[in-house]
Amino acid sequence: MADVTIYEGALDKGLEGIVACTTKISFIVGDSLNFRGYTIDDLAANSTFEEVTYLLWNDKLPNTQELAAFSAELRKEMILSSDLIKVLKGIPTNVHPMGWLRTAVSLMAHWDADANDNSVEANKRKSVRLTAKMGSLLCAFDAIRKGKEPVTPKADKSIAWNMMYMLGGGSEPSSEHVRVMDTCLILHADHELNCSAFATRVTASSLSDLHSAIVSAIGALKGPLHGGANEQVILMLQKIGNMEKAQQFVKDALQAKEKVMGIGHRVYKNGDPRARILRGMSEKLTRAAGIHHMYEMSTLIDDTMYKEKGLMPNVDFYSATVYFSMGIATDLFTPIFAASRISGWCAHACEQYANNRIYRPRGKWLGKEGLKWVPTAQR
Ligand code: COA
Repeated sequence: MADVTIYEGALDKGLEGIVACTTKISFIVGDSLNFRGYTIDDLAANSTFEEVTYLLWNDKLPNTQELAAFSAELRKEMILSSDLIKVLKGIPTNVHPMGWLRTAVSLMAHWDADANDNSVEANKRKSVRLTAKMGSLLCAFDAIRKGKEPVTPKADKSIAWNMMYMLGGGSEPSSEHVRVMDTCLILHADHELNCSAFATRVTASSLSDLHSAIVSAIGALKGPLHGGANEQVILMLQKIGNMEKAQQFVKDALQAKEKVMGIGHRVYKNGDPRARILRGMSEKLTRAAGIHHMYEMSTLIDDTMYKEKGLMPNVDFYSATVYFSMGIATDLFTPIFAASRISGWCAHACEQYANNRIYRPRGKWLGKEGLKWVPTAQR
C-alpha cells in the first residue's frame, strides 16, 4: 500500500477539524455563528426567513424592492400542484415523516421542467421551488395522514405564517407563534459544513442534479445524531417524566455510555449560540402552554450534563420544547428543520457547482493483503 499518499491529519474518524472546501456562506467563529458575515443573534432579532434566504443565496442583504420581489417569488411557489398532491397521497403515511419527505422531494423532481438543467439560472429557479415547497410538503403530509385535504397556502403571507396556518388545519395562527416559527427558520437556515450540507455538496460534486443533492441531505438530516435529535429530546423528556428523575436519568445514561439527545457539538465547545436564543423562547412558551415543568427538566439536564461532562446544549435541545409548546406533532420537528435548512442546502449546492471538483477521498487500508483465491471446495 506504499503508493497511497494519505495526509495523516485527515485520518481522524468523522473528519474532525478537516477543511473540505472553501465557502462564503456561513462560518462558526468560537461560539458565534455567522451567515455571510452577519451574526445569527443579529439576524434572529431583526430579520425574516425570506430575507435570510436571500442573504444566503446572494451574499448581501436585499433592499426593500429586492426583498419584496424575492418574497413574492418564493410565496407563489409554496402551492403544491393538484397532480403532485394526487401522487403524494399514494405514499404510505405510516412511516417517519422524514422518510416521506425524502420520497416527496424525489418525486417533485419529475414535475420540475428544470430537473436536469444544471445551469446557474435553472438552479436558482429550483432553489426557489424547493425552499418554497418544503414547508408545504411537511404540512401536506400531516394533513394526508389525518385523512384531510392539504390546506392551500396563502401567497400574500410568509412561509412561517403559512406553516403555522397549514399545521393548524387552516386556522389563523397567532402573531406570536408566527414570529417564533420565523425565528426558528432563521436559526436553522444554515450551519457551515454540517453532515447534511456536506452530503449535499458530495452529491452535487458529481454534477448530479439539485433534487438528488437535496434528497441526500434529507437522508443525512434524518439521523438522530443530526436533525433527528430534536424529536428524540421530547421522547426523552416524556420518558423521564418529572424533575425528581431527571438528574438520575443523565447519570445513568452517562454510566451506560448512552448519548443524551440535544447535548454536545462537534464544533461549539463553549455553547451553541442558537441554543441560547431558543432557551429563552422555550422558557416563555412552555410557561404560556402550561408545560413549564418540561423547561425545568430541560434546564436540569442541561446543568447536569455540564457538571458531569462539560457538554452544553445544541440547537435541537430547546427547539424541541419550543415546537412542543406550540402543539406541533413531535415527529414533525425534524421536517421543520428541513423546511429551514433547505435554504442553506441550496446555497451549498450552488456554491459547489460554481467551484467544483468531485469529492473523492481515500481510506487508510487496515485490511488483509496479498491473499490468493482458492476454489470453494478447498476453503
Ligand atoms: N451525551 C453523552 N455523552 C456525549 C454526548 C451526549 N449527547 N455528546 C458527546 N458525548 C461524549 C461522548 O460520549 C464522548 O465521551 P468520551 O470522550 O468520554 O468517550 C465525548 O463526549 C465526545 O463525543 P463524540 O460523540 O466523539 O463527539 P462528536 O463530535 O463525534 O459528536 C455530536 C457530536 C453532536 C454528534 C454528539 O455530541 C452527539 O451525539 N450528541 C447527541 C445527538 C445530538 O444532539 N445531535 C444534534 C447535533 S446538532
